[in-house]
Amino acid sequence: MTNKFDTVITRQNSGSTKWDDAATLFGSTDVLPFWVADMDFPSPPAITEALAARVRHGIFGYPSPHSYAYDAVVSWMEKRHNWQTKPAWMVSTPGVVTAITLAVQTFTKAGDKIIIQPPVYPPFFASVQNQNRTVIENPLFYKDGSYHMDFDDLAVKAREAKMLILCSPHNPVGRVWSRPELAKLLEICLENNVLVLTDEIHGDLVYTGHQHIPLASLETGTEDKIITLTAPSKTFNTAGLYTSIAIIADSELRRQFSQTIQKLGINKSNVFGITALEAAYRHGAPWLDELLIYLEGNAEYLTEFISDNIPALKVNKPQGTYLAWLDCRNLNLSQQELVQFFAKKAKVGLNDGITFGRQGTGFMRLNFGCPRPLLAEGLQRIALAVKQLR
Ligand SMILES: Cc1ncc(COP(=O)(O)O)c(C=O)c1O
Repeated sequence: MTNKFDTVITRQNSGSTKWDDAATLFGSTDVLPFWVADMDFPSPPAITEALAARVRHGIFGYPSPHSYAYDAVVSWMEKRHNWQTKPAWMVSTPGVVTAITLAVQTFTKAGDKIIIQPPVYPPFFASVQNQNRTVIENPLFYKDGSYHMDFDDLAVKAREAKMLILCSPHNPVGRVWSRPELAKLLEICLENNVLVLTDEIHGDLVYTGHQHIPLASLETGTEDKIITLTAPSKTFNTAGLYTSIAIIADSELRRQFSQTIQKLGINKSNVFGITALEAAYRHGAPWLDELLIYLEGNAEYLTEFISDNIPALKVNKPQGTYLAWLDCRNLNLSQQELVQFFAKKAKVGLNDGITFGRQGTGFMRLNFGCPRPLLAEGLQRIALAVKQLR
């Protein structure tokens, strides 16, 4: 039986950065792109229909505050993640990366130290450094086939830090943090008065045997010290709509954050973004359940293909996200050679591991949020190129 997610839809010339910028980025027109984190699937019909209805209405004046959409977020968080939130806690933001930058700006000052856990999503570094704050690295370590947090190191570094930016689930290593891990992290941060900014944009994309636990849902009575950033954009492939949510229980922190947004004049959201967000959270669950089965199938296909056909590479099946973190160190190439090898020899566009921090040396990130025939083609290209290396 055919699966709807198997259908390949051309994205060339659709204004997609993943496809239309690939030739410039990777230096070749015939590169298959597996880099920036969006998927090659259409969003669920519930979203496209809601957007079409909004377009048909034909009047696109200023939207009112979106309490109706926030209700949908509250019910999504409760049903999907067992987290009780309130519409009043929500602040609309034009993208999670922007929200990270705004939070850094609001809650820290120049020179302050901010902890991140590399290898990690590159804008975590940039949002700190671009505002003259100092990155403190609490690197993840690799043991028994998986990445872990180094709590001893965190306990030391938290003493001098003002904020920690958590990636949960973690991009690029694909960890879905367990309750004890999250509780330990929170305990250390609270002891040291470190504000936690938790980026949970990948929180809905979690595979069998794992559960995403919103940090602020831990029953420690400390949700007040946490700022949660999330969006339907990874889950439902709506990144181009730039609509995200900050969830902040503490009224004073929320007031300060909202004030920054207001001062910058970006406190109004886009009518299409909010329409899509509401439709996604109200009606998207059945589609998401199907997507997760498909993506997990891709994750298994990828890990089996690599272990059977490209033993020089190592990869673990991610616990969440549609991102695979390829250990290419056995190819014995310098980082520059590695990047050139994938772009020029294998003709696939992956993310350079070193952009996730120096811990990413020898690694590349592959986005498997695509129809399996495309994934299969990309993996075959890599296998062939690796054979020709020998
Ligand atoms: C951890 C993480 N945060 C944020 C983003 C991007 O969020 P936005 O497009 O809302 O700025 C990504 C995209 O890959 C991501 O992986």
